[in-house]
Parts: sequence; structure tokens; C-alpha cells
Amino acid sequence: MYSRIIGTGSALPERVLTNAELEAMVDTSDKWIFERTGIRERRIAAPGQTSTDLGDTAARAALAAAGLAPSDIGLVVVATCTPEKVFPSTACLLQNRLGIAGGPAFDVVAACAGFIYALSVADSLLRGGVADTALVVGTETMSRIIDWQDRRTCILFADGAGAVVLRRDPTPGILSTHLHADGKYKDLLWVPGWVSDDYAALAEHPPHMVMEGSEVFRVAVEKLGESVEEALAANGLDKSAIDWLIPHQANLRIIAAIARRLRLPMEQVVLTIAEHGNTSAASVPLALDVAVRDGRVKPGQTLLLEAFGGGFAWGSALLRF
Ligand code: UT7
Repeated sequence: MYSRIIGTGSALPERVLTNAELEAMVDTSDKWIFERTGIRERRIAAPGQTSTDLGDTAARAALAAAGLAPSDIGLVVVATCTPEKVFPSTACLLQNRLGIAGGPAFDVVAACAGFIYALSVADSLLRGGVADTALVVGTETMSRIIDWQDRRTCILFADGAGAVVLRRDPTPGILSTHLHADGKYKDLLWVPGWVSDDYAALAEHPPHMVMEGSEVFRVAVEKLGESVEEALAANGLDKSAIDWLIPHQANLRIIAAIARRLRLPMEQVVLTIAEHGNTSAASVPLALDVAVRDGRVKPGQTLLLEAFGGGFAWGSALLRF
């Protein structure tokens, strides 16, 4: 048995934050941001709008695309590093919003690689017979952990959600997933402080993201390059078999380096970074949904998904759409 994607959906907050607006907030420029990252603008959640809210909208769109009702879902896996609450998990909150109960629901925390991890876990559970249909969601409100005075990070990260409905199926869908992590890089991209760390300090210094960008960049290119080749080798496929690369949208220069390694023209890479920025675990399913809805991604095509983020954690997924 395999699992197949039978519907996609996404959600973005209404508020657009442009590079020009950031110029007024920190010492930066539209030129620097666009040339170094490929980002023009990004979306920021409204006050009170949570990762559950965005995930809910994306999930309902994916269900509608699949022609299913919430009651058809037997498993909910949510990838997020900005959960609405410490617990219950965002997956349980989402499950409750959708009015379904009984099947397993849990969050996966693998920062920007979260959706690839969640997809892999859901695929294994469906193939193992735990459920017939799963909702896999990547949803983030990164704006809540951004230090808006840190020009090295506040220009990059943003909010959004993407979702897929996965169904157990004898026809090949997800061909393979490849997950990796190496905690020795824990200090290069992190959010200092959380409940079991120094709770007292939290109230005075809410946790904000810290990143050593150029080091992250270097390791991301190396590990993602290995991971996409691993996915092709595991399936005995040549680089030419890929119809679309759907990468994590962290930096256009990282994406271009991976495309070069795959000898894939940029026309076969789905890019949303200019409009979405880096939405962490939401970026891959958001990009997938955009390309499905505008008709670029078609049934039967071979897609390569990849992502890299804090941990470091990274991975890839090769699938037939
Ligand atoms: O999604 C999770 C994984 N995250 C990533 O994959 C992100 C990976 N890293 C990156 O995308 C890039 O490293 C950045 C976009 C974060 C930074 O680009 P870079 O080309 O690596 O720049 P840099 O950090 O080497 O900084 C170059 C210069 C520095 O100035 P000096 O020391 O040369 O005078 C920075 O202080 O650019 C300066 N700088 C800025 N200037 C204007 C850093 N941020 C900004 C800014 N505006 N926003």
C-alpha cells in the first residue's frame, strides 16, 4: 500500500508586510533583501490570529479539493514550531475545530523541515493501516517569535499554512521520504527559552528567534543537496524524472543551488518566496497548493519536496501526484 495526496489547501493572513515597510523599521533596504533572499513581501497574522486559525482554513480548503468531509479524516498531523498553546497540540485544537474525534492527532516539531517530517509520519501510519485518510498540515505564526529589531531575521520569516489530504491507496503516491537531523547545530538557529528551561525569565524576555544566517546557508545547501540525491537513488530515478521541485522557501539562492545540483531549470521549480517569505513548516505545502491551483502541477507528475531548518533537521520526499 501507498499513500497519495488527494487534495491541497492553503491560507495566508491578509496583512502584507513589504520590504519598504521594513526599511522604516530596521537598517535594511528593499535592494539588499531582494538580492540576498528573493523576498519582496510577506504575510503577517492579525492580532489574535493563531496557527490553529490558519491551519483550519488550509485544512478545509484541502478537504474541499479532495471532495471529503472532516468526518472522513482518521488521522491529523500538524507540523508547527509556533503552536497556539504549549498543549493541547495544535492538531488536537484543529481536530476539535473540524468537529472530528477519536483518531490520533499530534504535532510534529522539526522547525522548517516540519512538513516533510509530518508527511513522512502520516505516510507510514497510513501504510501501516492506522487510518485510511489523513490531514497533514504545516502552519506557522513565525511573526510571534521574530525579534522585530533584528534585521538578520525579521526580513525573512512570515506566517501562513498549507495542508494536504492523504489517502491510503494501492497506486503509488508517496514513493519515499528521507529524514535527517543533527543536534550539534542547535546553536545556529534557535529560540532561546521555553517552559522547561527558564520559565521565570520568559515573562520578561519572550522568546525570539536567533540565527547565524551564513552558517545555516552553507549547511543547508550541503545537506539538501545530499537529501535530494538520496531520494532519487532510493527510487532508481534519474534527475530528468523530476517534473517539479517544491522546495522550502528560505532563500532563493539556496533553492537555485539545489536546482543546479539537480540540473533542473528554474522554470521547473515552484517559487513563492517573493510573496510569502519563509513560512517555516508551512512553506512547502503552501507552494504545492499554489502550483496545484494554478495548474502547473498535474496528476501523474513526479514531485520532489525538500526542507531544512532548526535542529538542524532536514529531509526530502519524492512522490507521484
Ligand atoms: O528556514 C530555515 C533555514 N534558514 C535558512 O536557510 C537561512 C539561511 N541563510 C540565509 O538565507 C542568508 O545567510 C541570509 C539571508 C540570512 C543572510 O545573507 P548573507 O548573504 O549570508 O549575508 P551575511 O549574513 O553574510 O551578511 C552580509 C552583510 C553583513 O554586513 P557586514 O558584516 O558585511 O558589514 C550583515 O550585517 O549584510 C548585513 N546584513 C544586512 N544588511 C542589510 C544582514 N542582514 C541585513 C539586512 N539588511 N536585513
